[in-house]
Amino acid sequence: MESVERRPFYLYSKPQITRNVEAYKDALEGLSSIIGYAIKANNNLKILEHLRGLGCGAVLVSGNELRLALRAGFDPTRCIFNGNGKLLDDLVLAAQEGVFVNVDSEFDLENIVAAARIAGKKVNVLLRINPDVDPSVPFKLQNLDYKFVDIYVHPYVATGNKNSKFGIRNEKLQWFLDAVKAHPNELKLVGAHCHLGSTITKVDIFRDAAVLMVNYIDEIRSQGFEVDYLNIGGGLGIDYYHSGAILPTPRDLIDTVRELVLSRDLNLIIEPGRSLIANTCCLVNRVTGVKTNGTKNFVVIDGSMAELIRPSLYDAYQHIELVSPASPDAEVSTFDVVGPVCESADFLGKDRELSTPSKGAGLVVHDAGAYCMSMASTYNLKMRPPEYWVEEDGSVSKIRHGETFEDHIRFFEGL
Ligand code: LLP
Repeated sequence: MESVERRPFYLYSKPQITRNVEAYKDALEGLSSIIGYAIKANNNLKILEHLRGLGCGAVLVSGNELRLALRAGFDPTRCIFNGNGKLLDDLVLAAQEGVFVNVDSEFDLENIVAAARIAGKKVNVLLRINPDVDPSVPFKLQNLDYKFVDIYVHPYVATGNKNSKFGIRNEKLQWFLDAVKAHPNELKLVGAHCHLGSTITKVDIFRDAAVLMVNYIDEIRSQGFEVDYLNIGGGLGIDYYHSGAILPTPRDLIDTVRELVLSRDLNLIIEPGRSLIANTCCLVNRVTGVKTNGTKNFVVIDGSMAELIRPSLYDAYQHIELVSPASPDAEVSTFDVVGPVCESADFLGKDRELSTPSKGAGLVVHDAGAYCMSMASTYNLKMRPPEYWVEEDGSVSKIRHGETFEDHIRFFEGL
């Protein structure tokens, strides 16, 4: 292996990705199903190829995610195109490729009809229902230090409540059924979809939603539609706190909806992102220095909100660990772990108990596989970091080059 660059980098475990997929596959045994991996969580091409090889389908929210899924070899008939603002050109590509499309609104339906005509193909559609289920009820989690922390779903990642921008409200269902009936050459209604939100750590609400959804499916079937897909979206959370708490597993999730799915003889589609990829990766950083201001101690690292924005954006907690701590007698203090970006929002962790690190010490941010690299930016011209994974035999390979200053300059060439 070439030597790892001296800059922040993402390090994944390929075997852990495999184990996460196997957990879903085991949970789904006995059901006809599609695991639609939500590409937005992590769009590394090598990771996508691996997930495809393990039998996953893909969930897409843009034309480029669809192009990437095709490049990674995903079977388009196991792909689902979601989104509240899908563009006509992208819908045409989806229609040509035979991807399932979720209908999000009246104008979205019009665009799907137009795309079907342009592509000369009938589109298999699911209605994305907004079930008005609130995932954001907080609950107490006891962590290893016997402190209680509130786990809640940040409003930015709750999507299934009635004032959200996503999906179709119940009272409009008939309009959509009539509109589908009016376009028999363009649309085939094959199912219903919902997605409640993300970082969900209680599975009961998936059952609440599934009960509503099968009632909708009964209603839709009673009008003569042959719908046979129920898509319950993604959203299963993970133990970001490393609390050791018993959080729901894929099996718990699937078991809450299994009987309902079987009772209606449905194919189940699930759309996991985080629970497939988050716990497979760390962001590896180096300590630049330690300082104190007022009552605050800071560990300043080379990674930042540019590489990993979840703490800044959602106040998200990600576990932090020193991998090469200072001398054994180094004092333990409470630190904010911050980056070099010119924003006070540039923190990776607040109030963390760490032994005072020396310059150059390694510091990892755990559970960085989902919504970290895919949300990275080049703010302050911190170029996106390289990615590596540990293979099954323990060797390390690069799976994405880090971006460079030259990459940035290239955007101005020839202007
Ligand atoms: N399906 C739909 C329609 C979605 O909107 C999402 C995520 C998923 C599936 C996958 O959800 P997951 O299993 O990963 O929870 N950037 C935020 C998360 C945004 C989630 C957006 N939708 C974060 O870093 O927490």
